[in-house]
Amino acid sequence: MRVERVGVIGAGLMGSGIAQVAAYHGCDVTLVDVDETRVAKAIEGIRGRLAREAERGRISPESAEAAAERLRGAADIDELRSVARVEAVIEAVVEDIDVKTRLFRRLGEVCRPDALLASNTSSLPLSDLAAASGRPERVIGLHFFNPPWALKLVEIVSTASTTEETLQDALQFCQQLDRVTVQVKDTPGFIANRLLVPFIFDAIELLQTGVASAEDIDLACRVGLNHAMGPLATADLIGLDTLKAIAESMFEEYGEPRFKAPTLLRRLVSLGHLGRKTGRGFFRYG
Ligand code: NAI
Repeated sequence: MRVERVGVIGAGLMGSGIAQVAAYHGCDVTLVDVDETRVAKAIEGIRGRLAREAERGRISPESAEAAAERLRGAADIDELRSVARVEAVIEAVVEDIDVKTRLFRRLGEVCRPDALLASNTSSLPLSDLAAASGRPERVIGLHFFNPPWALKLVEIVSTASTTEETLQDALQFCQQLDRVTVQVKDTPGFIANRLLVPFIFDAIELLQTGVASAEDIDLACRVGLNHAMGPLATADLIGLDTLKAIAESMFEEYGEPRFKAPTLLRRLVSLGHLGRKTGRGFFRYG
C-alpha cells in the first residue's frame, strides 16, 4: 500500500515532527489538534524548520517548499472528518489512555475501512486502543523518536490482533518515510524506553541525592560513555510531563521500582518546569 495522504493527530513535539517527515517524503499531511491556534503554530514551526534545513544545505530549497505546501491543518478533533479519506493516521496526542481510547473509537467510526491506524504511544497498551477502534486488525504502533526529522528509528509495535498485511503496510510506509525499523510486541516501553527510562531515573536519583551536579552527570555520560546526549538533557528533550506519564504506565504494568518516577521529576512537573518546551527542566534554555 502506498500512502499518499496521512492524518497526524496531535500537533505537539512529536506530531509536528512526524508531520514534517511525512510531508518531506511526499505525503499530503493533515495535522490535527484541539484548536486552530495550536495547529497554526505547529505548521509555522515546521515551515521554519524546513527553511532552516534548506539554508544549511541539508535539503534543497525546492524540496523544503514542496513539503511546506503539502501540509494543512485542522482543528476538528471531535468529528475528525478531515482524516476520513487518508490511507494512514498517526496518533501523537498526550500520553493519556482515556484521551487516546476516545480518539481511536472515533477513528474507527470515521476512517476508511482499509486505513492504517497507528499510535505513537511510548508506553500505553496499544491493545486497548486497537480494541476501542473496532478494527484491531488495522491498528499498529509506530513509535517515532525525538526529534523525528533527525532520528530515523521507528519501533513497529504489533498486538495479538495486528494482521500480517497491516504489518507489511506499516513496513512499506516506514520505507516510504526513509525510516529504520525494528519490530516489537505490545509491551510498555517497547525496546528503547524500557532501557532508557530506568537509566534516566538513576541519573535523576544521583542528582536528587546530591552525588553530582546535573552538568557533571551529563558530561560523564557524553564523554565517558560516548552518548550523544546526557540523560538529564534527554529527559528535558522528551518533556518531563511526558516522561512522567510514560513512567506511570510502565510502573503500573511492571510494578517494578525502577520504573517509578523519582520525586524530583514529579516536583518539577508540578511546578510546570517541563524541560525544553517550557525553557526550564533539569537545565535552563534561552
Ligand atoms: P506534547 O505535549 O508535545 O503534544 C501533545 C499534543 O496533544 C498537544 O499539542 C495537545 O494539544 C494534543 N492533545 C491533547 N489532548 C488532545 C486531544 N484530546 N485530542 C487531540 N490532541 C490533543 O507531547 P509529545 O511529546 O508530542 O507526545 C505525544 C505522544 O508521542 C505521546 O504518546 C508520547 O508518549 C509519544 N512520544 C513522545 C516522545 C518524546 O520524546 N516527547 C518520543 C516518542 C513518542
